[in-house]
Amino acid sequence: MKHIGMAIVGAVLAASVTAANAQNTAADIERQKAGEEKAVNLCSTCHGPRGISTSPEFPILAAQRRGYLEAQLEVFRAKTREEKIAHDFMWGIAGNLDDPMIDSVARYYAAQPPAPGKPGDPTLIAKGKQLFEQGVPGRGIPACANCHGADAAGVADFPRLAGQHAKYIVKQIEYIQALVRKAPVMHGIVKDMTPAEMQAVAAYVQSK
Ligand code: HEC
Ligand code: HEC
Repeated sequence: MKHIGMAIVGAVLAASVTAANAQNTAADIERQKAGEEKAVNLCSTCHGPRGISTSPEFPILAAQRRGYLEAQLEVFRAKTREEKIAHDFMWGIAGNLDDPMIDSVARYYAAQPPAPGKPGDPTLIAKGKQLFEQGVPGRGIPACANCHGADAAGVADFPRLAGQHAKYIVKQIEYIQALVRKAPVMHGIVKDMTPAEMQAVAAYVQSK
């Protein structure tokens, strides 16, 4: 008798857990759909279909790290990523996204296939590869690969750089160097970088 009772309790529990899971899944699907719709109807007008933009004015978002995407949308919303172009283009847009929507669009872009690398000047790319993989030990510039991954695809919340527009990469390094974009870890790394080094490393990651 006791056993039958336990079995019934067990079955009821199992059924309610399954129902709760089904509800979660339905809510998750709704949320994912809302994120995808936002991306298709709004973000893609600048960031391109599936996050692959053609103009270097607009960063590629496809296959970017999820945590990094979330963090950037949060700093645009908080108006603490302050370069003028962020103010002009992203503050208003991010200001209209609530936390669940930030989560959904970040998941959407993180799951898209990456942009293919673009060829460039082989000499420049070779210089950039060396800088990316070894840094410049004599000048205290560490290897970018330490944080951005050996293949530049990003690691955990360290952003993907592979396939990104070289012009966008150079511009961000300049903003970070000039403390316009506040990124303390990166500032320490690029504070003494020359324009030629920026061009080389940007050509290399764009080619990946
Ligand atoms: C009107 C054009 C426009 C639209 C629409 C737009 N963006 Fe942007 N976005 C930009 C520009 C320009 C930048 C580069 C800002 C900078 O350089 O500081 C940017 C930067 C970003 C970045 C930072 C990328 C990085 O590598 O640091 C993220 C993330 C982003 N946008 C997400 C979105 C999402 C999500 C949407 C839709 C909800 C969206 N954007 C809609 C123009 C746009
Ligand atoms: C110690 C870890 C670390 C190293 C080493 C490092 N980075 Fe970064 N990098 C970061 C972090 C963290 C961010 C995100 C900054 C933020 O949150 O705004 C970043 C962001 C960037 C961005 C902006 C990406 C975007 O989509 O806007 C560029 C460009 C970049 N790094 C280039 C480099 C280059 C080039 C090197 C090598 C010379 C390098 N990084 C080395 C940690 C690192």
